[in-house]
Amino acid sequence: DYMLWKNEIVERKPENAMVSFEDRGYQFGDGVYEVIRIYDGKLHVLDWHLDRLFYSMEQLAIRAPFSRSEIKQLLKQLIEKNKFTIDGKIYLQVTRGIQPRDHVYMEDLDALFYATVDRFDQPVEMWDKGVKVMLQEDIRWLRCDIKSLNLLGNVIARTKAQRSGYHEPLFHREGIVRECGASNFYMIKDGVIHTHPTNHYILGGITRKKVLLFAKELEIPVKEREIKVEELQDADECFLTATPLEVVPIIQIDKNPVNNNEIGDITKRLQQYYRKRIY
Ligand code: PDD
Repeated sequence: DYMLWKNEIVERKPENAMVSFEDRGYQFGDGVYEVIRIYDGKLHVLDWHLDRLFYSMEQLAIRAPFSRSEIKQLLKQLIEKNKFTIDGKIYLQVTRGIQPRDHVYMEDLDALFYATVDRFDQPVEMWDKGVKVMLQEDIRWLRCDIKSLNLLGNVIARTKAQRSGYHEPLFHREGIVRECGASNFYMIKDGVIHTHPTNHYILGGITRKKVLLFAKELEIPVKEREIKVEELQDADECFLTATPLEVVPIIQIDKNPVNNNEIGDITKRLQQYYRKRIY
């Protein structure tokens, strides 16, 4: 197994990728990341992920370690070197760099980049059975649009959800349903897909963008709007999306079944269409 460490492909061993205790990612979570899907050894919608990576870096004024085309080259080399031809995912992160601990960052730091590739099998059971989500107060910061390494709010909420028998927290803030702990949320009512608009309250998911495009192709209407928590009880169907999971039905919110704990027709159509369109 090989990984990318800065601009080099090295064997994936801890001693080959050591980081200073003064790396700002380590001390402050001062960095950004991406999770990119690989289907049959090919990076999926890489450009969209790189758009978001550069957006995240710009918003935090992190100096990009490489150009877009250099990153593309490096990631492709990583896949080739690993002879990776199956389904998987790439994790990559950029931290701002190394300096003596100070909240105030220096401007000329060299950002630190690394990436790993892992096998990822299709989550067939989740697709077929659906998952439960647990409503939780959104305690994250107000720039959820940035794919930041600072994930404590998500970490706490997802751990609590999973320890309580749910797959994901479903975040609400000011009475509005926002998104899940590591996925975007959708409610279907009277044949219309409702989902939160992209702004500072949620991460603009790559899978979200794709699902909204696919809904258009299938002529399923979409409304991007704020959904009140009370509306959930009247939902016909709900589902979530994320890069590793694609479209996953939600069959229960807290103790309340959604669509009698069954996968709804529109969710099923989207799942099937998604599978068809990516290959
Ligand atoms: N999470 N919302 C949040 C808070 C997320 O962390 C993610 C992805 C998404 C879905 O985005 P996308 O469709 O681009 O994967 C929405 C990744 C997978 C993670 O943290 O591991």
